[in-house]
Amino acid sequence: MSDPSQWTAEQPALASLSSRIPNPAPPRVLAIANQKGGVGKTTTAINLGTALAAIGEQVLIIDLDPQGNASTGLGIDRRSRHHSTYDVLTGEASLREAVIATAVPRLSIAPSTLDLSGLELEVSQQRDRALRLRNALAPLRSAPPSPNEFSYVLIDCPPSLNLLTVNAMTAADAILVPLQCEFFALEGLTQLLATVENVRSALNPDLIIHGIVLTMHDARNNLSNQVVEDVRTNSKEKVYDTIIPRNVRVSEAPSYGKPVLVYDLKCVGSEAYLRLATEIIQREKELIARMAPGHDAAAGGAPPSDPTLWKSQS
Ligand SMILES: Nc1ncnc2c1ncn2[C@@H]1O[C@H](COP(=O)(O)OP(=O)(O)O)[C@@H](O)[C@H]1O
Ligand SMILES: [Mg+2]
Repeated sequence: MSDPSQWTAEQPALASLSSRIPNPAPPRVLAIANQKGGVGKTTTAINLGTALAAIGEQVLIIDLDPQGNASTGLGIDRRSRHHSTYDVLTGEASLREAVIATAVPRLSIAPSTLDLSGLELEVSQQRDRALRLRNALAPLRSAPPSPNEFSYVLIDCPPSLNLLTVNAMTAADAILVPLQCEFFALEGLTQLLATVENVRSALNPDLIIHGIVLTMHDARNNLSNQVVEDVRTNSKEKVYDTIIPRNVRVSEAPSYGKPVLVYDLKCVGSEAYLRLATEIIQREKELIARMAPGHDAAAGGAPPSDPTLWKSQS
């Protein structure tokens, strides 16, 4: 883990955001998934992860895309990826062995390498092929409570509904879906939700859709505004209030190996990811309240495994 004092040395403004010690609890595992490429999955993994770490959470990003953009975008040199998510999924390394601290305090990553693209073929005959990541996460879930344990795990999925994405959905508590504010935004969502439904019925009955985050929004563009309206009206799933704007600082940051919150904390992209992190933590609190023993589901809403849970809330 990075030394939290680095906040003060390197990022005084970010340090001031850190106001609390995370509650010791099993990590919440969110898979960031959409089979379309270029919709903001990796950008969301990096910057939501950084924002959650900035407000006091212990965050692990699992890079499950063979392209390794989350690893590169966080400044993890290929030579330092001694153990990768490929090694984890083939059983050659434990997840903890693959974890590398990033320059951002409280943010770690299990990096990926190109080998990961061959995994599907290699394990296609194995009965546990869809359970590899869930099994690898089990020691983190059962670790004794400690402020140093991870409180959030974000899985950056590849742009495909392949075995890697199914592994992520099987391992996750919830799915976070980035949707780009463009004409075909909703295209493919039905297929994504069908995959979630299949995973839920066969492998992971408690899986929920945490929410949809609209990305790369351009307020000056009528089409972008129309997409927001359409998604909010037509999507049965919960759409976060926070919309991530298209912002050049967001797209510049990865080439410096930095999250945008470190590259330019004051830009509108950073502010949006901080708001998204706050919204997600708030929703987690609501979810935990609903799961609490003695909670009257009839009075307060559906149980968390019910996918309709997110439909009516705002
Ligand atoms: N809010 C944003 N503003 C500007 N550019 C963005 C934003 N979000 C993502 N991008 C850029 O769009 C491209 C695709 O984003 P990325 O997160 O890699 O998508 P995915 O992981 O879904 O393929 C990248 O070049 C990224 O820098
Ligand atoms: Mg990506």
